[in-house]
Amino acid sequence: MDISAYKTKGSIYNKHMLTLADYSVNEIYEIILTAIKLKQKQHAGKKHAYLKNKTLAMIFSKSSTRTRVSFEQGIKQLGGSALVLQQGDIQLGRGETVRDTALVLNRYGIDGIMIRTFKQSDVEELAKYSNCPVINGLTDEYHPCQVLADLMTVYEHFGKLEGLKMAYFGDGNNMAHSLMLGGAKVGMEVVVCSPEGYKPNEEIVATAAKSGKVWVTSDPEEAIRDCNVIYTDVFFSMGQDKSPEKVNALMPYQVNEELMAKAAKDAVFMHCLPAHRGEEVSEGVIDGVQSIVFEEAENRLHAQKAVMYLLMKNK
Ligand code: CP
Ligand code: NVA
Repeated sequence: MDISAYKTKGSIYNKHMLTLADYSVNEIYEIILTAIKLKQKQHAGKKHAYLKNKTLAMIFSKSSTRTRVSFEQGIKQLGGSALVLQQGDIQLGRGETVRDTALVLNRYGIDGIMIRTFKQSDVEELAKYSNCPVINGLTDEYHPCQVLADLMTVYEHFGKLEGLKMAYFGDGNNMAHSLMLGGAKVGMEVVVCSPEGYKPNEEIVATAAKSGKVWVTSDPEEAIRDCNVIYTDVFFSMGQDKSPEKVNALMPYQVNEELMAKAAKDAVFMHCLPAHRGEEVSEGVIDGVQSIVFEEAENRLHAQKAVMYLLMKNK
């Protein structure tokens, strides 16, 4: 079913958000359309308290600007509150287990947990023992919240999702994985264009390919053809050591004016941010007329408000 024909139901109660592979296309539509409604309310200055007295705990083992601010501001705008738990401030950072952390948080009336960390298995472990929804705020393998905001942004821009072609250039990282998983579900064609040695995880590619048209190439010419959405991300993700070899391998995959000129006429440029101008993207492209990166960053707020609302509200 096309997103325009989908009617929202108002709840995805008590479900974790771990990868997006665990979400149906209708659940993804539910989040995007709810996010658009919440955005309209916010822009019209309409106040509401759908999550009055609800608390979101946010565990951070990596840095963040967008995820941190949009979740904290988002829960406040929904009438709830946030507890920010930086790894260095809590016992998890000194070796307390994820399981014990979950079992303790279960005793304090927490209604949702957002976690940004390294290992996906830690997020899964937290979800296993938590008595409330766990939301993956980025791991080495996935970034589902970013992709929900991205799909919302694409839908707002083009008025559709199905049939659009997205090409991701660069490191086959967490963003590449989640874009494949989410994009394929909503009927987009997703191609990841990376050099040998930096391709996405084959198992994740295979999982994504079960729900739609997903492929991997090393040829930018092939990837960019008739492309509507051009996406890239940093050469070095958080926790990765910098190396000149990787820079050399990825530079030919830079999104620049020359590459953009080969895409569809109405193509847009997207990036999850933070960006490194002159590395994965040229200044002219990210700051140019085809770039929608700041709309995309704003939509983190609305998409995550929708996730929290749908997952954490009372039945
Ligand atoms: N895109 C994104 O997740 O940004 P932060 O690392 O600033 O949260
Ligand atoms: N791939 C990047 C995304 C940051 C939002 C990282 O993991 O650092």
